[in-house]
Amino acid sequence: MRISLVAANWKMNGNRTFAERFFTDLELESVSADVVVCPPFPYLSLAARAAEEKGSFAVGGQNLSHEPDGAFTGEVSAHMLLDCNVRYVIVGHSERRSFYHETSELVAKKFVVAQAVNLIPILCVGETLQERDQGHTLEVVASQLQAVKAVIEEDAWKRSVVAYEPVWAIGTGKTASPEEAQSVHKFIRTQLGDVGSKVQILYGGSVKSANASALFAQADIDGALVGGASLDAREFAGICRAAV
Ligand code: G3P
Repeated sequence: MRISLVAANWKMNGNRTFAERFFTDLELESVSADVVVCPPFPYLSLAARAAEEKGSFAVGGQNLSHEPDGAFTGEVSAHMLLDCNVRYVIVGHSERRSFYHETSELVAKKFVVAQAVNLIPILCVGETLQERDQGHTLEVVASQLQAVKAVIEEDAWKRSVVAYEPVWAIGTGKTASPEEAQSVHKFIRTQLGDVGSKVQILYGGSVKSANASALFAQADIDGALVGGASLDAREFAGICRAAV
């Protein structure tokens, strides 16, 4: 039986006042799932202090450099995330793959660098609308997973999380149906080999408190990676409560 995990991806949203108010309002009593909040870099330490005080969630980064340190202006290293008491880090989000041209090979390097310092990578995979319409969903997801499989031992999947985020569902309000998401999640689990049953696989793409229960009722959906709805503490807590 896998523990559910619900992660908030604030993306490039919020400010200090918003972050302070969010953590004041975030009530996670009676939530059985693991909860992670991934704010923009400047608010990681603030989030970590709130996590320490409340004890009900962990903190994640939204990205990291594949380099350990050096002359890489604007980048943030795995060690810098550790200094902020971060435990998880999103790698390969579709917005980074598209806007910042991150290849699956670069994402795989980030995955390895994260695990090297015991951060838990949340590996994002998912197809575009065009790829879905052309029937290439599983081929795309398999290729994104293969880039990581090529550089890790199978056992390393157990120290990671995978998030299936169909690009056409992100920020659109067009959530994948529970059945459609389940079919891809089941496929992803088969791609992870013998340890697949031990890996949390999250769904991301227009998750709301109103649709979360139907998604979480699916056998291979272990939680959610939430964007827009995670910017409202009460709405996000409602999604977390749906994950049993
Ligand atoms: O990483 C989660 C995000 O991509 C999903 O965004 O706004 O569709 O929940 P949203």
